[in-house]
Amino acid sequence: MPKKRLLSGIRPTGSLHIGHYLGVLRNWAKLQNEHECFYFIADWHTLTTKYKDTNELQGDILEVAKDILAGGIDPNKSTLYVQSAIPEVAELHLLLSMVTYQNWIHRDPTLKDMVRMLAEDEEKAKEEVTYGLLGYVVLQTSDILGVLGELVPVGKDQVAHLELSRDIARRFNFIYKTDLFPEPKALLTETPSVPGIDGRKMSKSYENDIKLVDSEEATSKKVLQMITDPKKIKRTDAGEPKDCQVAYKHYEIFADKKILDIVQDECKGAKIGCVDCKKRLSGIMNNYFCEIRKKRTAFKNDKDILEILDAGNKRARQVVRYTLEKVRDVMKLRTWG
Ligand code: TRP
Repeated sequence: MPKKRLLSGIRPTGSLHIGHYLGVLRNWAKLQNEHECFYFIADWHTLTTKYKDTNELQGDILEVAKDILAGGIDPNKSTLYVQSAIPEVAELHLLLSMVTYQNWIHRDPTLKDMVRMLAEDEEKAKEEVTYGLLGYVVLQTSDILGVLGELVPVGKDQVAHLELSRDIARRFNFIYKTDLFPEPKALLTETPSVPGIDGRKMSKSYENDIKLVDSEEATSKKVLQMITDPKKIKRTDAGEPKDCQVAYKHYEIFADKKILDIVQDECKGAKIGCVDCKKRLSGIMNNYFCEIRKKRTAFKNDKDILEILDAGNKRARQVVRYTLEKVRDVMKLRTWG
């Protein structure tokens, strides 16, 4: 079977947490053995909501690049690049915006969710929407179509965006009588939902996350704060793992069946206290992330990371340039000298 072009991006909102690893990076690493993969850091997409304070952005890009590389993405197998290093993506965004009906954008439920997150009050949130944020999905479509991507591994929250990307690709092909653009498909993978230490969704903004970059000590401290079965107060109280909303969930993600059986037995039989149980869990988690963390701390020199990104940027740019020449061609635009 010929390899397909696959593309996915991640916004550099700070160091990645273990939920990102399980939901995104682990999957990316696997897919690079099956397809021709383009992975990128979507720094322009970050600006759609975080345009006021950009002090951290360059640092965040480097941190995320380190997480991606330590998480198993091999720059010799995949093209790893930074979105803003490819100005042709911005030009494609402009051209695709011409064929994108604005009512398609307004119907996009993923955008509606993003808008809701801008402010508590719905009216205020609407006032906060910029032209750049409205263009979020057109930009995302340009990322994908710029490399003629066919497959896009994303989470459920992005499926509506992908539908729109398909609509835009189809409409462009129809108007300019071409088959230049593939209609990109979402590649959905089953990923565990990872609760943060307080039981809400793991997220940097809730400050309930465990980061890939965290030390073993920091991880253990956070694991000790995880919520357990509220009925089990003393060591001698019997507990119920299924009511242990955070710690046992993590056991299920990181431990094998044998350990899970032991935890069930010890918890229900009041043979262990939650503190000891969580100490064992942090040992298992630290063991799981040991290699990745070793790899990550080995990237001492930012220059090495920048070199890897530079090489990826060059490769990606060549591909998008080629696409853009074709786009200009079918739209009867001139490539000025
Ligand atoms: N919107 C995606 C997210 O927040 C990130 C992204 C930007 C992306 N461009 C993309 C994902 C292109 C897939 C393809 O997760």
